[in-house]
Amino acid sequence: MEVPYDYSGKSVFVAGGTSGINLGVAHAFARAGARLAVLSRSQEKVDAAVAALKTHGGEATGFAADVREPAAVEAALRQAGAQFGGIDVLISGAAGNFPAPALGISPNGFKSVVDIDLLGTFHVLRAAFAHLNKPGAAVVNISAPQAYIPMELQMHVCAAKAGVDMITRVAAMEWGAAGVRVNSVSPGPIDNTEGMRRLAPTESLRKLVTDSVPLGHFGSTGDIAQACLWLASPYAAYVTGVVLPVDGGWSLGGFAASGAGLKKLLSAPPQPKSDGVIE
Ligand code: NAP
Ligand code: COA
Repeated sequence: MEVPYDYSGKSVFVAGGTSGINLGVAHAFARAGARLAVLSRSQEKVDAAVAALKTHGGEATGFAADVREPAAVEAALRQAGAQFGGIDVLISGAAGNFPAPALGISPNGFKSVVDIDLLGTFHVLRAAFAHLNKPGAAVVNISAPQAYIPMELQMHVCAAKAGVDMITRVAAMEWGAAGVRVNSVSPGPIDNTEGMRRLAPTESLRKLVTDSVPLGHFGSTGDIAQACLWLASPYAAYVTGVVLPVDGGWSLGGFAASGAGLKKLLSAPPQPKSDGVIE
């Protein structure tokens, strides 16, 4: 799809921007002419993402850092800000997830997800503010429907992402006076992503997921990118503090729409197909 946005001369920093949804968002901004900086833990993923982003013809740089380490995050944002002459758009989407019942999550497992998703978002936004090109800069956090729809096997993620949405709203209030808008995109089930590989690893689970989406199919990374391009653009100049679901209507009913909780989905017994073969 042709990108109807022009981000030439703009700088975009994507925390967690080396795979999946966030890399898709980074590509969309690079295609629209922006300079890109991405950050994630793996140097290998950072190098691959930077090389791929450069194929659009613009500048791209990357940082191997963990969002749980504030000093490393600060150093990366300082360097990107200096290299690009400030940052116009910040996308914050580093996250971790695994499905497990509350009693199967160790204190360190719960802490790991909260540290990455919630504290990591705080570290990234806090470190970015000094380098944002105010007024006019925009922040988009990548949240999830777990922030406002309770989901079995996702207590840690629900708690962490609910906090992320509050960070979005409070930052929008505090930074509005500086001309910085802060919004969030809440993706539904997005195909070909690590998140979906973890939450819907089999064909029968994938079908149960799409059955619970009013539009009847998975979303794409491009769907999320389009929302980010709009929210960060002057077309959304009076929009701040919103959590925008881009989920095919999934959050209207969640898994309840298909009459099944995630717990049931993940523990569903194998279904015999009509030819008698067990899936
Ligand atoms: P993904 O490919 O695993 O993306 C996660 C990114 O964050 C990767 O670049 C990863 O790279 C980085 N990351 C993870 N932990 C990090 C840490 N501690 N410090 C720095 N970077 C870290 O997963 P995805 O499914 O595309 O998810 C992307 C975002 O969309 C997440 O915020 C997720 O909650 C949200 N989301 C996804 C779905 C979905 O359907 N997939 C639905 C709703 C919301 P490294 O491994 O190199 O660190
Ligand atoms: N079920 C229960 N607990 C789990 C688990 C699972 N499937 N996977 C990890 N954990 C627990 C570990 O056992 C550990 O706890 P412990 O020390 O008490 O044993 C804790 O989580 C941390 O695990 P570790 O692998 O050391 O953490 P990490 O910091 O290297 O990785 C994760 C963080 C666990 C979130 C990891 O899955 C990750 O890096 N995810 C990023 C990619 C991703 O999740 N993408 C989808 C985004 S929606």
